[in-house]
Amino acid sequence: MKNYLVIGNPIEHSLSPKIHNYWFTKHEITANYVKKKVTISDLENVIKKVKNKEINGANITVPFKEKIISYVDKLTEEANQAQSVNTLYLSDNKIIGHNTDIIGFELSLKERQLDFKNNNILILGAGGVTSSIIIALKNLGASKITISNRTKEKAIKLKERFKFIDIIDWGQTINAKTIINTTSLGLNKNDNIKLDFNLIGSGCFFYDLIYNPKETNFLQTAKSQGYKIQNGLMMFVYQAAESFKIWNDIDPKVDNELINLLQND
Ligand code: ATR
Repeated sequence: MKNYLVIGNPIEHSLSPKIHNYWFTKHEITANYVKKKVTISDLENVIKKVKNKEINGANITVPFKEKIISYVDKLTEEANQAQSVNTLYLSDNKIIGHNTDIIGFELSLKERQLDFKNNNILILGAGGVTSSIIIALKNLGASKITISNRTKEKAIKLKERFKFIDIIDWGQTINAKTIINTTSLGLNKNDNIKLDFNLIGSGCFFYDLIYNPKETNFLQTAKSQGYKIQNGLMMFVYQAAESFKIWNDIDPKVDNELINLLQND
């Protein structure tokens, strides 16, 4: 029996066990994937268990994606670029920290055929996942990225690594073609993000990394004004698929049965 887990805090709402166990069953792999709430003092122990193969692979989620870096032996190029790790695996007896959020975000947009070149993109937030989104957008050809974060210093810190980004104050709106929420605002039903819709032109695309609730106020408001919207479910699915691929050397199928299972949770 192989053992996998996702660690984070909070972790109750994670759908990772559901998705990985679905694929394990589909591929007749004898394995179990669980979620575990941990504190920072538990990280070393998780690493030890991956090293001695008690754990065959782990996902890392909020708020440990940066904190885990100091415990791993090696970062992949993606994880190093993003300074964010969401997947651990063992290779040549070394703990490798990898990032599948970047490819997850990229793949979540593959059917939309969006042209990011020379279009203003506004990213709300400067938390742990934002660097992965910036890298993915760059990979997709984006050139004009503006960040707005409540704590401006965190946006400034990001600009030290990604010199090409612009920064605006929290609460300011620009005429963007794509607006992406990477903050945790929206997890609670009453959360609201202040945007001046008079400044946003037609055809703007609104993306929220949050997938539960399915439509945050940010997405609901945009939708009611006739804009195209997307939530974070497909990014979640594709980042999981990439982790699964690394651990099992199998490219798992993303089918309707799976999407329905996750949506009906
Ligand atoms: P993580 O990096 O683990 O995802 P985080 O670093 O706390 O979590 O990032 C959460 C993001 O949501 C940040 O951009 C945070 O803004 P601050 O940097 O100012 O904290 C944003 N966020 C959370 N609650 C918010 C609120 N009530 N208003 C505005 N932004 C908020």
